[in-house]
Amino acid sequence: MKICYLPGDGIGPEIMAQALRVLDVFKKEGLNIELEEALLGGAAVDATGVPYPEATQKAARAADAVLLAAVGGPKWDVLPRPQRPERGLLGIRKDLNLFANLRPAVLYPELANASSLKPEIVAGLDIMIVRELTGDIYFGEPRGISEEGGKRVGRNTMIYNEDEIRRIAHVAFKAAQKRSKKLCSVDKMNVLETTQLWRDVVIEVSKEYPDVELSHMLVDNCAMQLVRAPKQFDVVVTGNMFGDILSDEASMLTGSIGMLPSASLDENNKGMYEPCHGSAPDIAGKNLANPLAMILSVAMMMRYTFANEAAATRIETAVKKVLAAGLRTGDIYEEGTQRVSCSEMGDAVVAAL
Ligand code: NAD
Ligand code: IPM
Ligand code: MN
Repeated sequence: MKICYLPGDGIGPEIMAQALRVLDVFKKEGLNIELEEALLGGAAVDATGVPYPEATQKAARAADAVLLAAVGGPKWDVLPRPQRPERGLLGIRKDLNLFANLRPAVLYPELANASSLKPEIVAGLDIMIVRELTGDIYFGEPRGISEEGGKRVGRNTMIYNEDEIRRIAHVAFKAAQKRSKKLCSVDKMNVLETTQLWRDVVIEVSKEYPDVELSHMLVDNCAMQLVRAPKQFDVVVTGNMFGDILSDEASMLTGSIGMLPSASLDENNKGMYEPCHGSAPDIAGKNLANPLAMILSVAMMMRYTFANEAAATRIETAVKKVLAAGLRTGDIYEEGTQRVSCSEMGDAVVAAL
């Protein structure tokens, strides 16, 4: 298993350290894990002047899987856009063709009270958000801020071609086949042409999956339904920007954004694995971050890239055990549980493994 890992910025190095300890358990047991560290984001900008340096490109391309913690922070928000950490992240996603972003929002029963919704609304929640990751308004041209008619104009382009929609639709239908055979496609076809095409193509693809029940929902309604009755959803497929927003919203149903892992896959299950959250500058350097989204991302890596279901399940079971034992970082803390630091949470997961 050739794994390139990118600690990144903010809480990134703190949570990555815990993920590496988890990998070390498997390594000591004899799994053939080869690790290479590389720079991405602000850390890369500081060292090399660019957010996705050539050395990282080489390491990431040569690896079977990439583990990423998080990038970004106020320090770099003033730089010209091509030098910003987020461009590094978009760059590596595009470079490795990681078009399929799986974001599972699963409520661990022990965290039912950590959610901001009533426990009965979220109990048993298990949603898979399939987010297209290399297209949409994130990458569309033209883009920029220009001077037109004496005024500044900001411009981005929301664009999808049918091939991009088709390939993510196949990923979503296949995911639905393995789960409850229900797929909800989320768009804004009442206003945006690009998402009219999205809906048309998803319907075309659905003909190949007669066993999957397809429904459609407008994104504003979906945002509302996610907090009204989230358990109506199983697999949700949507574009890059809607998926970004809806997955952060869904994370709170599970107690915290610190619980949501993700897999970003290409056509051959090569993948990058990262928590859905960012670099959390407000708590960085204090050993306060929840490392579970990062650790659960390692589980997804075992499952999707290495087809090692046993290792994936073992990591997830270890996380369940530490939650059942009452251990909580600040983001999921509630009265009657034991508040622990990021590294103590790592200790507990390693012990449970
Ligand atoms: P954020 O996800 O970093 O933080 C939002 C809130 O959630 C903060 O209060 C933070 O403390 C909390 N939080 C996030 N992760 C946590 C964890 N593991 N444990 C406990 N609390 C956690 O979002 P933001 O503040 O909007 O963005 C901060 C920076 O991160 C920005 O530069 C942004 O561009 C970047 N970002 C990067 C990624 C990524 O690398 N994949 C994702 C999102 C945001
Ligand atoms: C995420 C992040 C990124 C995104 C940013 C940091 C580029 O919010 O991974 O969800 O919008 O995709
Ligand atoms: Mn996001």
